[in-house]
Amino acid sequence: MSVNCRNIVNLSQSTHMDAIEKQHIIDQLQELRLVPVVSLPSVEAALKLAELLVRCRLPVIEITYRTACAVEAMTQINKKFPELLLLAETVLTPDQVDSAIKAGAKAIVSPGFTPLLASYCRDKGIPFFPGVCTPSEVQMAHEAGFRSLKFFPAEHGGGVKTVAMFKTIYQDVKFMPTGGIKQDNLMSYLEHENILCCGGTWLCPEELMIAGQWTEIETRLNEAVQLLEQ
Ligand code: 3PG
Repeated sequence: MSVNCRNIVNLSQSTHMDAIEKQHIIDQLQELRLVPVVSLPSVEAALKLAELLVRCRLPVIEITYRTACAVEAMTQINKKFPELLLLAETVLTPDQVDSAIKAGAKAIVSPGFTPLLASYCRDKGIPFFPGVCTPSEVQMAHEAGFRSLKFFPAEHGGGVKTVAMFKTIYQDVKFMPTGGIKQDNLMSYLEHENILCCGGTWLCPEELMIAGQWTEIETRLNEAVQLLEQ
């Protein structure tokens, strides 16, 4: 009996601790409502984009581990643009967690949920947003104490209909949908109260950065910010 009680207390304490550690990041994401997910072709492009994000009043960037310069880009952005909320995305291993945090990332985002990454981040007190797409994945993340989850790939996973269904079932969970979100469906997600913020690559796609199409990127950022401010 006493052992059971202790277990319950330990679980609730660790869940609460997780919430406290992440709360300041969650507050910022809730306010921003939109996060550009970016695969950077070079550090030079990273810095140019960071400057643009600040100028366009969207001071947040989620850098994927899908290109070779990711860690150096995070380091440089953290140094030169501390006003940007810096997140690391496509984090798949504990080594990547460590390198992202060392480079200055304020939180870790992963496309999926694994007990290994979840416990690694929790044990180190690192804000972690695991990805989920199905009820079982939501419940696994919930059991591990997470209440703010990436919903990926959102459009393939049923889009706003799934978001609405999750709300009726998982009433204390907030979602960050990414995957197929663009200017024309952004607001249909944001109108749901269980959405923390949305993310997407459409704002600053790698191919536009490679082609040097910064005017087009700036236009996309401005259009998105205008939509959010309406
Ligand atoms: C992600 O990692 O969140 C996705 O690549 C974003 O999906 P999108 O390219 O459809 O925006």
